[in-house]
Amino acid sequence: STAGSFQRKFQMSSLGRTNCFAVIICPPLGMESHRIENDQLLTSSVYQHRYGSHRARLNIQASGDEDDMNGGAWCANPEEKINWIELDARTLTEFTGIITQGRDDPIDDYVSSYYVAFSNDSREWTVLHDGYAEWLFFGNSDKNTPVLSQFMEPVVARYIRILPQTWNGTMCMRMEVLGCPVPDHLSQYQSQNEVMHRDDLDYTHHNYLDMEKLMKSISDECPNISRFYSLGKSFKGLEIYAMEISDNPGMHETGEPEFRYTAGYHGNEALGRELLLMLMQYLCKEYKDGNPRVRHLVDETRIHLVPSVNPDGHMKAFEKGSELGSWTLGHWTEDGHDIFQNFPDLNNILWDAEDKGMVPKLISNHHVPIPEGVLSSNGSVAVETLALMSWMESHPFVLGANLQGGERLVTYPFDMRRLTKESEELEKKLHSRGYGEGEPEEEIRMIEDQSLFRWLAISYASTHHTMTQTHQGGCHTDDPTGGMGIVNRAKWKPIPGSMNDFSYLHTNCFELSIFLGCDKFPHQSELIREWEHNREALLTFMAQVHRGIKGVVRDKEGNPISNATVSVEGINHDIRTGESGDYWRLLNPGEYRVTARAEGYSPFTRLCVVGFDPGATYCSFDLNKSNWDRIKQIMALHGNRPIRLLSSGNRGSGHRYTYSRNQIPNSKFNNQFPNSNGGDMSKARLRQLRIMRIRRLRQQRLLARNTTTPPPTTTTTITTTVPPTTESTTPWYGSWPLGEFFEENTTSPEETELTDSLDYNYNYTTDDY
Ligand SMILES: *[C@@H]1O[C@H](CO)[C@@H](O)[C@H](O)[C@H]1NC(C)=O
Ligand SMILES: *[C@@H]1O[C@H](CO)[C@@H](O)[C@H](O)[C@H]1NC(C)=O
Ligand SMILES: *[C@@H]1O[C@H](CO)[C@@H](O)[C@H](O)[C@H]1NC(C)=O
Ligand SMILES: *[C@@H]1O[C@H](CO)[C@@H](O)[C@H](O)[C@H]1NC(C)=O
Ligand SMILES: *[C@@H]1O[C@H](CO)[C@@H](O)[C@H](O)[C@H]1NC(C)=O
Ligand SMILES: *[C@@H]1O[C@H](CO)[C@@H](O)[C@H](O)[C@H]1NC(C)=O
Ligand SMILES: *[C@@H]1O[C@H](CO)[C@@H](O)[C@H](O)[C@H]1NC(C)=O
Ligand SMILES: *[C@@H]1O[C@H](CO)[C@@H](O)[C@H](O)[C@H]1NC(C)=O
Repeated sequence: STAGSFQRKFQMSSLGRTNCFAVIICPPLGMESHRIENDQLLTSSVYQHRYGSHRARLNIQASGDEDDMNGGAWCANPEEKINWIELDARTLTEFTGIITQGRDDPIDDYVSSYYVAFSNDSREWTVLHDGYAEWLFFGNSDKNTPVLSQFMEPVVARYIRILPQTWNGTMCMRMEVLGCPVPDHLSQYQSQNEVMHRDDLDYTHHNYLDMEKLMKSISDECPNISRFYSLGKSFKGLEIYAMEISDNPGMHETGEPEFRYTAGYHGNEALGRELLLMLMQYLCKEYKDGNPRVRHLVDETRIHLVPSVNPDGHMKAFEKGSELGSWTLGHWTEDGHDIFQNFPDLNNILWDAEDKGMVPKLISNHHVPIPEGVLSSNGSVAVETLALMSWMESHPFVLGANLQGGERLVTYPFDMRRLTKESEELEKKLHSRGYGEGEPEEEIRMIEDQSLFRWLAISYASTHHTMTQTHQGGCHTDDPTGGMGIVNRAKWKPIPGSMNDFSYLHTNCFELSIFLGCDKFPHQSELIREWEHNREALLTFMAQVHRGIKGVVRDKEGNPISNATVSVEGINHDIRTGESGDYWRLLNPGEYRVTARAEGYSPFTRLCVVGFDPGATYCSFDLNKSNWDRIKQIMALHGNRPIRLLSSGNRGSGHRYTYSRNQIPNSKFNNQFPNSNGGDMSKARLRQLRIMRIRRLRQQRLLARNTTTPPPTTTTTITTTVPPTTESTTPWYGSWPLGEFFEENTTSPEETELTDSLDYNYNYTTDDY
């Protein structure tokens, strides 16, 4: 029955028009969505190039920089008497209306009345009459609110002109044109053929109750693989609904990663909400139909889909409809928060600690705690944000993305911008000498996992049908992505307190933002097209959760160890095991030295190789209990002072072996440290120990060469286009004094040899998984 209702709704929406007071309203031709290209627009005159015809798009945003080309509207030359803007629809079109808007600017510039004319050849124009005279349409009375003017009946033509008659301030306007292409028998035959192959989904906009009904019907249709639940309530008391899709819904299965898509942080960005509702239907149907790709994904992943994080905001935007809500109506929560950037700022806490050299030895490089008082300070954190945070903390999420709108690109963190310590100091120096803003070589802090994040972003952008087609520029400016469809948020439009930064710094989950398109709230008739554009990308991105390594950390008896730390040499960002001891570490292909540590256990390091094949490499750890007494004794021998760490003089250049205590057989260990009650440990003895260790290593290495295991190498940084991130890597320090104890300061020849780094030159293609 649900399938039937999907079908019916689809057929209605596929007509692309709705009846309203007997006037047929056609959908937007695509000024806002950029489907109308710049060269389809022509104007009588232009005030300055930054206010050219290409800036006449509904909801286009001005850049804050007065010197660039991105003005907040088309503006005519004030010296001209006759003004018009013309759109070439390229095919015969039934025009049914126009939406106008003023200029995005602090000044109030808008057109308050205009005529409309039509032509089939752009030379002979017919001005629209209302039966008595030329029809003067009333336009705007402020700069932001879009105003719709409908024609009494559709007008068939190829060209349409708007001729402003009165305006406030400078003559500036933004607009959208409503029209339906006149059916052409040939193309109709083609589009019918296309429809046959499309997924049978509900391609409509859903208000809160419709969304609830749809999600219920999906969970009724696929009870075995779905669970309909809520993260909590919005400010106005609406549920923040979620759909879990997995082979055993309702429980975390050891070894199965958890994935999330969230949408609707800003209520007016409605496309993400609808795409997630379509994705739920798609997964349910395809699973039942036995689609092997979907079966595999659902069986191996616990997927959570949250279509509407800010249901209150959506309600506002939905009431106005897809075209008339302006740029920001419903963006914020009911009590005025922007949920996406309402998270505690952990970046500055970590960066300050890094600058003081405290990371990761004294302050960990991951799971940065939320400072006290941040969450309790009244009203500064939205209830929706709090609900999200507790949800994020209660599931072992590995990967996620939030779907947003108003741009067409993927951003990867950090989202917050701060200069590197070196740049900060340089800036201060220049400033104190009176050179003003330190422009030269400003370097910002980059995320440790940058090359992985770039890969994740590319996996979406490159499988989206249009995201990398940027020759026409971005939505509001030139293309900020260099044709890649991806950009680092901190370099592009930095914000503090973002969901993405918080997720990376406070949880195990890597989170990115996907901006789905210029039109935040596309017309219903666009939804089927948007689904086609995004379906492959949505599926491909989800599959990335199975990239890298995964495993379980256990003790010798096989009991899982939760909250153990898993570190990858060369990447100063650890992750932790979940309640059942399982962990996932997303990594690009390469060879990695991975160390597991847990309180009360000896750390253990092993080599894990990530290949190009789909599926994460298993890399589990069985940890031995550590001997605390012995550690304390040896600490005492050293006068309880902190024991020197390896390679302090060599920060950032290459990576070193650090030997864990596990590599020293216990029996020998015991002999070497007799119950000496703090007795002297001679230098000679230390030397002897070191030599033994070197011998043992040499042996291990020889052995390793004889087996199929590749020789130990240091961490390999795979990059796409960025240089290897070696500068930002710090040698990792074992948290266990005993392991470091044996390192002393000297570098053995073996170590030098072992640290030779090996750089791979992998080519990425999207077929690699
Ligand atoms: C354009 O051509 C179509 C079909 O030839 C005609 O129906 C329509 O009236 C013409 N429009 C104008 C503005 O001349
Ligand atoms: C019209 O423009 C002027 C000058 O730009 C501005 O001061 C005024 O507020 C505007 N009028 C309205 C009704 O917005
Ligand atoms: C759910 O699983 C049960 C048992 O495996 C099976 O009999 C039933 O057909 C499944 N239901 C659906 C709707 O797939
Ligand atoms: C809570 O809000 C009130 C009023 O806005 C303010 O006076 C008070 O200092 C706030 N308390 C805290 C702990 O921030
Ligand atoms: C997890 O381990 C860290 C130290 O590695 C500790 O600070 C934290 O309290 C532990 N958390 C739990 C829930 O055990
Ligand atoms: C654990 O200890 C045993 C000896 O009791 C040793 O053989 C083994 O290599 C150790 N394993 C690890 C992972 O440290
Ligand atoms: C390595 O293999 C060679 C021949 O396969 C053998 O002669 C040699 O003894 C092996 N070395 C070790 C350390 O096992
Ligand atoms: C990468 O791709 C280029 C061009 O396709 C090719 O010439 C080169 O050999 C490739 N490199 C590797 C390591 O596969």
